Amino acid sequence: MQTLLETVPPQAPCVLHIDLKAIRENYLSLQGFIRKGALCAAVLKADAYGLGQDAIGATLYEAGCRDFFFAYIDEALQARKKFPHKDLNLYIFNGVLPRTEDYFIEHNLIPCLISQEQVERWACHAQKLSRKLPCLLHIDTGMGREGLPYDVLKEVAKSPLLDNLEIRYVMSHMANSNNSGSQKNKLQLDRFLKARRLLPKAKASLATFANSSGLTLGDNYQFDLVRPGMALYGYKNESYGTLLDLKPCLRTFARILLTRHIPKGETLGYNCTHTCKRDTRVALVSVGHRDGILRAASNKGYVLINGKKAPIIGTVSMDVLMADITDQPESAVRSNMWAEIYGDITSTRDFAENEGTSVYELLVRHGTRYHRIYTS
Ligand SMILES: Cc1ncc(COP(=O)(O)O)c(C=O)c1O
Repeated sequence: MQTLLETVPPQAPCVLHIDLKAIRENYLSLQGFIRKGALCAAVLKADAYGLGQDAIGATLYEAGCRDFFFAYIDEALQARKKFPHKDLNLYIFNGVLPRTEDYFIEHNLIPCLISQEQVERWACHAQKLSRKLPCLLHIDTGMGREGLPYDVLKEVAKSPLLDNLEIRYVMSHMANSNNSGSQKNKLQLDRFLKARRLLPKAKASLATFANSSGLTLGDNYQFDLVRPGMALYGYKNESYGTLLDLKPCLRTFARILLTRHIPKGETLGYNCTHTCKRDTRVALVSVGHRDGILRAASNKGYVLINGKKAPIIGTVSMDVLMADITDQPESAVRSNMWAEIYGDITSTRDFAENEGTSVYELLVRHGTRYHRIYTS
C-alpha cells in the first residue's frame, strides 16, 4: 500500500483505494454461492455505491456479469457509452418516467415498472411501436416503497395491459433481509409467491427477489436472478458474514497536515467540544465534511495512524479533523504521512456506526476531492 500511496500527486489531500480484484472475487464467490441456474446481477446505481461504475462495471463484465441495475437513466447511459456490447442487460430500478420512453428504446434499457401508471405508460408505448417491450414488473410485497401492491396487480393482471409487455422478471425487494431472523422475510416471500400466481406463467416465468443479504437466506429466496450491491463491494453484515467469503474493496487515506502539542486544559476546534485532559499531541488530518465525514464523528471513533487507533478529538470541520496521537512516539508521526480513515470491515463499520449511519451512506457520500486509485 505504501508504494501505491507514493504515486499520489503531492497536492491530493485524500485517497480512495478501490480493489477491483476484491470485487471480481466477491462476484465469483456470489455466483458460486447461489443455486445452480440462477444468475448474479450487479447493482451499479449511484456510481456503484460511490466507488466508480466505469471501472467496476468493466471488472464485473470481464468476470462474466451481464445484468446491471441502475437507479436512473443517466447512470445506465454512462454504462451504455462505456460498454457498447450488445449482450448487456441494463435495468432501471425507478422505471419509466413521463417523456423518457425514447431513451429506453434508443439505448436498449429495461425499466423496472414500479406503479400501475408506469405499466400503462410502457404498454401504451409498446402499442404505439406495435411491438412488445421488455420490462421487469416490480411487486410490492412489504417494502411499502415502490412496486405494484397485490390488489393493483390483480387488476392489472386481468387487463389487456400486459399483452404488450415482455416481462423479463417479476421482481420484489426485501425490507429487512439483513436481519435473518425477521419474520418479515418469510412474509414477503409468501406474498411474492402468491402475487406471481396472478400472472400467466408464460408471461412471467422468471423472478428476482433478493439483494445481498436476501440471497443468503436460502435457495428459495434466490429465484432466477439475485441483485447484490453491498456484497459485491465486500461489506457483508453480521447475519451472513460467515456464509460468504467476501473482501471489502475500499480503503481511504488522508494526509497528516501537521502535528502539534496542545497543553492540558486547552480546548480543540470549533465550539470547544474537546478539552485536553492531558498534554496532548494532535495530528491534523486532511479530510472533513466535504469528503463525507460528518460532524457526528466529532469526538467519536478513530482513524488509523501507523496501524494504531488515533481517537478523533474536537469537532470535525469542513476540510480537516483532529486525531489524538499522544500515545505514539513523537518520531513515529510526521506531517505528510498518511492516516487511514477506514479500510477493513471493522474500521469501516465502526466509522459508520460512530457517525450514526450505515456503510451504504458512508460509501456514497465521498466527495470529489479524493484521488482515486484502482488496482486490479
Ligand atoms: C431494488 C434493489 N435491489 C437490490 C439492491 C441491492 O441491495 P444491497 O446493496 O443490500 O445488496 C437495492 C439497493 O438498495 C435495491 O434498491
